[in-house]
Amino acid sequence: MMTGKVVLLGVTGGIAAYKAVELVRLFVKGGAEVHVLMTESAQQFVTPLTFQTLSRNPVHTGLFNLIEEQEIGHISLADRADLVVIAPATANIVGKIAHGIADDLLTTTVMATRAPVLIAPAMNSNMYRNPIYRENEDRLRKYGYLFVDPVTGMLACGWEGEGKFQDPSIIYQEALCALSVKDLQGERVLVTAGPTQEELDPVRYLSNHSSGKMGYAIARAARRRGAEVVLVTGPVALAPPSGVTTIKVVSAAQMREASLREFADATVVVKAAAVADYRPEVRAASKIKKKGAALTLALKQNPDILAEMGKNKGDRIIVGFAAETAGLQENALSKLRAKNLDMIVANDVTREGAGFSVDTNIVTILSRDGNVVDFPVMEKELLADIILDRVVVLRDQGRGCDSE
Ligand code: PMT
Repeated sequence: MMTGKVVLLGVTGGIAAYKAVELVRLFVKGGAEVHVLMTESAQQFVTPLTFQTLSRNPVHTGLFNLIEEQEIGHISLADRADLVVIAPATANIVGKIAHGIADDLLTTTVMATRAPVLIAPAMNSNMYRNPIYRENEDRLRKYGYLFVDPVTGMLACGWEGEGKFQDPSIIYQEALCALSVKDLQGERVLVTAGPTQEELDPVRYLSNHSSGKMGYAIARAARRRGAEVVLVTGPVALAPPSGVTTIKVVSAAQMREASLREFADATVVVKAAAVADYRPEVRAASKIKKKGAALTLALKQNPDILAEMGKNKGDRIIVGFAAETAGLQENALSKLRAKNLDMIVANDVTREGAGFSVDTNIVTILSRDGNVVDFPVMEKELLADIILDRVVVLRDQGRGCDSE
């Protein structure tokens, strides 16, 4: 997603400048060509050499540096950029850009570029709330500048409040979002992710190994591509994706309730959650005591949420997943038919690099029209985009069909 993209990272003078180092690492890891532009005051906090080493490109510091001008120049940098990110951004830089001041390399480049500009402010909370700053930020938003809001926390000045630099991984996600084609704009995508937990008693439950990685990757990708996204998630250790409405549930019954409620407004559904097929017939009110050598548990079937959705499909596009340990294609195909789906993503969860918990997956995608495609091992992040590419094709062909 970042491969081959030219990203200009403007670093301004704040204590959070050192956190921009991590941002450079993320951009480089993502495959971007990164050029760092530092203001005078940024250089008081971090040396250009640090950024140069990590970005593997010379760091640009001065507007009138003859060598830089000859080799790359601010206009050429501005022209080549796919995205300009200013992180951290001080109140000063936001004020200057908002009023058309172009008196150093960074402000001149921002003024000259036609690339999207993403600004991650970091400052004292009083400065952040100052009406002059607010007006400047609003003015830039009106002109289409993008912002990643700071968070609330302990600030370098000793204050606790708004204005703390956002996590670099979230800024990176927002940068990906700014670079993505918005081919899902106007769609309302419902994604489910993670496991469900079915309680036996107050201390024990039945569950599975789902980490939520697959579903969260799909939710992030759909949001990047312009969709309004609702994520219904079982208990996982992942941070809620930014810009996504995240509903946390625990049991299959709660997942069903939240999913069916959100289904009403959804135009696309992707069901990556590993929902427990059974729950204990009775949840004991107190901890089940050890009695004999064996314990028999009576279980009863949970409703199949995806099958319920399939019955009321309308013109929604519905994508299911199939976690199999044998008979991958036959089992997936019968689920696709039984649940009235447009597409099913089948993974053999016994294969190394596939299924639960890992960052990668190996899948076969089966479609309602009989099309079957095997995919090699790949990052779940990339697979998420492949699944959504297929959703876009279906949508462009005239949405999902109600029945065969
Ligand atoms: O979360 P990760 O660690 O990244 O792992 C990813 C994954 C292995 C969980 C994912 O790739 C996956 O396969 N998800 C579906 C798991 C599953 O429950 O498969 P299934 O074959 O049992 O169910 C088929 C489909 O019906 C699924 O879309 C499931 O969400 C849905 N279902 C199942 C049972 C039920 N009661 N209600 C449902 O909606």
